[in-house]
Amino acid sequence: MKNHKPVSRSGRFAGGPAEDVAQFTESISFDRRLWSQDIAGSKAHAKMLVAIGVLKQEECDEILGGLEEIAKEIGAGTFIWKPELEDVHMNIEAELTRRVPAGAKLHTSRSRNDQVALDMRLWLREEIESTVTEIAELQRALVGLAEKNAAVVIPGYTHLQRAQPVFIAHHLLAYVEMFGRDSGRLRDCRERLNVCPLGSGAIAGSTLPLKRELVARELGFVDADGKPKLTQNSMDAVSDRDFMVEFCSAAALMAVHISRLAEDLILWVSTEFSFVKIADAYTTGSSLMPQKKNPDIAELARGKSGRVIGNLVSLLTLLKGLPMTYNRDLQEDKERVFDTADTVRRTLRILAAMLQNTKVNAETCAAAAADPLLLATDLADYLVLKGMPFRQAHHVVGEVVALAERAGKPLDRLTLTELRSVYPRFQRDALKTFDLKTAMQRRTMTGAPSEKEIERQLRMWRQQLD
Ligand code: ARG
Repeated sequence: MKNHKPVSRSGRFAGGPAEDVAQFTESISFDRRLWSQDIAGSKAHAKMLVAIGVLKQEECDEILGGLEEIAKEIGAGTFIWKPELEDVHMNIEAELTRRVPAGAKLHTSRSRNDQVALDMRLWLREEIESTVTEIAELQRALVGLAEKNAAVVIPGYTHLQRAQPVFIAHHLLAYVEMFGRDSGRLRDCRERLNVCPLGSGAIAGSTLPLKRELVARELGFVDADGKPKLTQNSMDAVSDRDFMVEFCSAAALMAVHISRLAEDLILWVSTEFSFVKIADAYTTGSSLMPQKKNPDIAELARGKSGRVIGNLVSLLTLLKGLPMTYNRDLQEDKERVFDTADTVRRTLRILAAMLQNTKVNAETCAAAAADPLLLATDLADYLVLKGMPFRQAHHVVGEVVALAERAGKPLDRLTLTELRSVYPRFQRDALKTFDLKTAMQRRTMTGAPSEKEIERQLRMWRQQLD
């Protein structure tokens, strides 16, 4: 049995953990990506230690210099990570102390418990900003496709059955709305997580007079007025993972939206729909069937939503039985958060690119939208305008539809006589109901799919996204 002796085990322990224990407990294989946040936290902490007289200025300067050197090496890929030192916090601190003796003072009044809480808050703060940017890019791609095809009408579906006509732009803008809310939820999450936990120590703060405000300011944990934001309960601060759950939850909901968009696109590229065509570069072939062109990006986007939802469930399950305060179980949080962040960002990016390389098949859309049944409800509205109660109008038009079916002709090919055989007071203008252009113009209220309203929404989104 080979024994290591990591820095955290000095004194109390006769030797280091067994190798298999070290392998089982390490997190350096995944938490090393927190290195820049960990170093930023250490720098701020060191400066504060000068302010309370624990570190001399020269010692602090040495520490800052040492940390910068280490940061450079990590950035260049030359830093040697040691699994026997467990995690990113100990790897950096141990190496710093090897180079700079004053490094041994850096952990004063600090625990890896508040350190990891800090690192994850800093990491997510940046991650959310990049994700929000990626969401806007996907929204722009959707708006772009909508703008290019502003005049194209398709059937809108309920129960995946043709329902009423909509502009394809209206359909695409529905997703822009969803992603707008996703973006808002992530920004709310960022706002709430932007609170500094440092100073909470392992569980109960410190007997030293730490200046927490100073650290918080240094690390940008401030409100709109520049006032430092501090966690208010040290026990909560070291075991709170709400902000990770919020992130994973907002991301899971976004992944669901992505998945629905993907599903629509998969339907739309099928021969049966043929509403859109994805450029060859963004599709894949079949190894067996030479004719195939598959929407694999969309399928994977749909599939990956499963793991993002799973990450949220894992995280909640991880937390639900934990007694206060820090428990090592919490180390399992990071991979779920990282995987969620990586998955949604990669998916957002490739979907945006795919949509930029997608064309709408205007002819197939027009043919599908020409189905007069899509305007059956408009015919009922016509009767309502003539004074008939809607329930009765619904019934009358239902009979008209059945008549057309029996006669084997499209609804708009029925003669006035045939219409009158169902309801004698139909007039010639009833047949005008089936003019698609006029029908679309009529849908004028906020949120409805008239050309004018959609133009307004496109303008509004353009403005918001540019
Ligand atoms: N690697 C640990 C984690 O990710 C850091 C905190 C460890 N704290 C401790 N007391 N063992 O949660």
